[in-house]
Amino acid sequence: MDYKQTVTTALATALDGQLTADEIAAKLERPKTSDKGDMAFPTFTLAKTLHRAPQQIAQDLAEKLDTTGFEKVEVVGPYLNFFFDKGAYSEATLNTVLTAGASYGTNEDGNGGNVPIDMSSPNIAKPMSMGHLRSTVIGNSIAEILTKNGYHPIKDNHLGDWGTQFGKLITAYKLWGNEEDVKKDPINKLVEYYVRFHKEDVDKPELDDIAREWFKKLEDGDPEAHHLWEWFRKASLQEFNDVYDELGVKFDTYNGEAFYNDKLAEVVQILKDKHLLVESQGAQVVDLSKYDLNPALILKSDGASLYITRDIATALYRDRTYHPAKNLYVVGSEQTYYFKQLKAVLKEMGVPSADDLHHVPFGLITVDGKKLSTRSGRIILLAKVLEESIKLAGEEINEKNPDLANKEEVAKQVGVGAIVFGDLKNERTNNIDFVLADQLKFEGETGPYVQYSHARAESILRKAGNVDVQAAGNHVADPEAWDTIKTLADFPAIVKMACDELEPSVVAKYAIRLAKTFNKYYAHSKILTEDADLPARLALVKAVSTVLKESLRLLGVQAPDEM
Ligand code: ARG
Repeated sequence: MDYKQTVTTALATALDGQLTADEIAAKLERPKTSDKGDMAFPTFTLAKTLHRAPQQIAQDLAEKLDTTGFEKVEVVGPYLNFFFDKGAYSEATLNTVLTAGASYGTNEDGNGGNVPIDMSSPNIAKPMSMGHLRSTVIGNSIAEILTKNGYHPIKDNHLGDWGTQFGKLITAYKLWGNEEDVKKDPINKLVEYYVRFHKEDVDKPELDDIAREWFKKLEDGDPEAHHLWEWFRKASLQEFNDVYDELGVKFDTYNGEAFYNDKLAEVVQILKDKHLLVESQGAQVVDLSKYDLNPALILKSDGASLYITRDIATALYRDRTYHPAKNLYVVGSEQTYYFKQLKAVLKEMGVPSADDLHHVPFGLITVDGKKLSTRSGRIILLAKVLEESIKLAGEEINEKNPDLANKEEVAKQVGVGAIVFGDLKNERTNNIDFVLADQLKFEGETGPYVQYSHARAESILRKAGNVDVQAAGNHVADPEAWDTIKTLADFPAIVKMACDELEPSVVAKYAIRLAKTFNKYYAHSKILTEDADLPARLALVKAVSTVLKESLRLLGVQAPDEM
């Protein structure tokens, strides 16, 4: 039952073709509180074309309007306020949710189109930063949202596993490294060597030459160089996978930068054939002045490839392999300029999906006021943040619900959920200071709050036992129930909006809104009273539980039944 549609149609008829349905729909507003109606049509902007005062227009429209299906339509100044037929609307909404279950809100807009999502993409031999966490959870949620909208996402972890830094790392390891140490604590040790390299090469520039040689060897397939690289990569990946397991994030492919090594020659060839490569101080660049961008450096003077060279090969590969409907790169805003260059080069090359390349940027994150950077040594290890969060969640649960059966499991769901939700409720591009204690609160706009609301709904249903829930629309005299029902009805539009904007915060904010309205309802009504409306009230609770759980799932957050 689509009330926006009903309102639009009624108005279109009354306006006699003076506005199109889309124009009308765009003007419709939602009154802040339900006592002012459920949808409002302002008439100010029509005054000019209709040569009448807005109040008069509202009056005239009200007289002509077919009000079937509405409880009433009121004229308040320049507004037409529509009141829905609450009983019918409630019943229809709840029936839709309960029949569809978890698939409520699903649509087929994407037509199964492939959408590679470049996400997470940490660098080998470096700790995964909070930035990579953001990319991981944002990318993961966008993938769920795309699936819900009928697309076929491909989650690709574009590991930073190639580049001149591996020459430095091998050099450092050969000079100061120790196999046992690396085996015990791979990433930390490798970082230590790398940091030492940068300290020492200030006075010993010859180190850089050695590093360059090692990288060249690596590129040429030298067995020792390759063996070390492979070992560093594997050990790092194991640590990364621990974090992914904790977050419950899975990837379809791990095609890191190195995967494209044998595909770089073709890129250079295409660029040459299209006369796009020019020499500049011995290096090969693509001029991008027509895009108002600095030239893209494709090959260094020694012939070494760069980050962008590998990204061009990546885009070409994805283009051919997936014929993508969209091409997403979930990468921090600091690389915005870079992605403009990448897109420009691809356009020059004539790669078909270049126009559908979207950099999906996000802001910086600080944890408890502290910045994260590998160089400064002030690294807040992601794994540590997760661990801490799970511990704190466990303490909270111990206090609130000491008899809970699977406490450890739930602590993990809540601790991890708090971090994921705490990130995703912010608009992507905002910078955020992440205060762990705040994100873990069971009250306020947090993951645990939404999870707790879902658990509360489940607990009501458990207590009710085998009552046959029925979406009869006879209990909505209660204004909180009515607000909850309208919020439930918004979900399909939320799913679409989150997809159009590639913005998980749309879903997170919605989940908070639904949890809040539901909790108000819960506080004001005795849901479990044994009367004729009990099955109808339970239908509402069941629908809320379903939609809260599904919203959390779209964010990559678990919804325990008890907590
Ligand atoms: N490894 C890079 C970093 O940590 C991110 C890679 C992003 N993806 C890409 N296709 N460039 O900054």
